[in-house]
Amino acid sequence: MAPCIIRISSQKGGVGKTTFAVNLALALQSAGHDVLLIDADSTNPSIGFHLGMTKSASGFKNVAQSKASFNEVISVHAPSGVHVVNGVIGAKPFVVTKEEAYRMISSMRKMPYDFIIVDTQPGYYNMGIVTYFDEVIIITTPDMPSCVSAMRMSLDYDKAGVKNFIVVNRVRDRGYEIHPGEIKRMFPGKAAGFIPEDEIVPISIAEHIPALLLNKRSKFSKSVIQMIPSIAPPPKMHATRRRGVLRFIRELLVR
Ligand SMILES: Nc1ncnc2c1ncn2[C@@H]1O[C@H](COP(=O)(O)OP(=O)(O)OP(=O)(O)O)[C@@H](O)[C@H]1O
Ligand SMILES: [Mg+2]
Repeated sequence: MAPCIIRISSQKGGVGKTTFAVNLALALQSAGHDVLLIDADSTNPSIGFHLGMTKSASGFKNVAQSKASFNEVISVHAPSGVHVVNGVIGAKPFVVTKEEAYRMISSMRKMPYDFIIVDTQPGYYNMGIVTYFDEVIIITTPDMPSCVSAMRMSLDYDKAGVKNFIVVNRVRDRGYEIHPGEIKRMFPGKAAGFIPEDEIVPISIAEHIPALLLNKRSKFSKSVIQMIPSIAPPPKMHATRRRGVLRFIRELLVR
């Protein structure tokens, strides 16, 4: 079965896309899925900082420009088992063309993963490219400018027929924030989760250990784990695998 390819997006910068992408990948992997995490931020790749993998000399840019295949640039984040295509920190920013995106997505579809999480740069994207993804998760913070830009983006994805969800990050439960109930009304059926402001995040970035590994019981980690069923229901392949295991055990017992 082809992997589910999820784009992590936002129009505004700095709202928590990379933090969420990294920890979502880890949460899915620890739930038993095979996950590939791709740093497709062509202006400011930063997944390497989160995972302690900053030394990549080759990565997404080389694949986009046909200088390498995905297999040549995939490395494994040993503590979690997540496979990673890093961005090259310090490389010149570039723009992925529609043809390049189509070629990359076509090869992603043949990869043996359950989920491919694609972190991206902020801002609008060629809507033609966005339609290649199975799902888009739009990250916002609970303030009006960010929510309005998320809403505009979500409506554009709706028009393009792309399934999209909203994740609200850095919730502090303060009176001046837009209340979760209000956000649920702004995005009917699309608010996949609310992530609290949590000091574990800056600490984890400084230590190059994702929050989910640093403390699975932190407020931040729990909120990411909690939203997995709504964002990424288990692929059918896993049901088949589980049935395979059950059949194997049954065969052992009736021998
Ligand atoms: N839930 C959170 N609690 C506390 N700090 C957070 C949280 N989420 C993100 N941050 C902080 O916000 C900063 C920006 O996060 P991040 O780099 O993930 O955003 P981004 O949307 O990927 O940014 P860019 O648009 O530049 O790619 C980080 O330095 C991180 O420490
Ligand atoms: Mg980022």
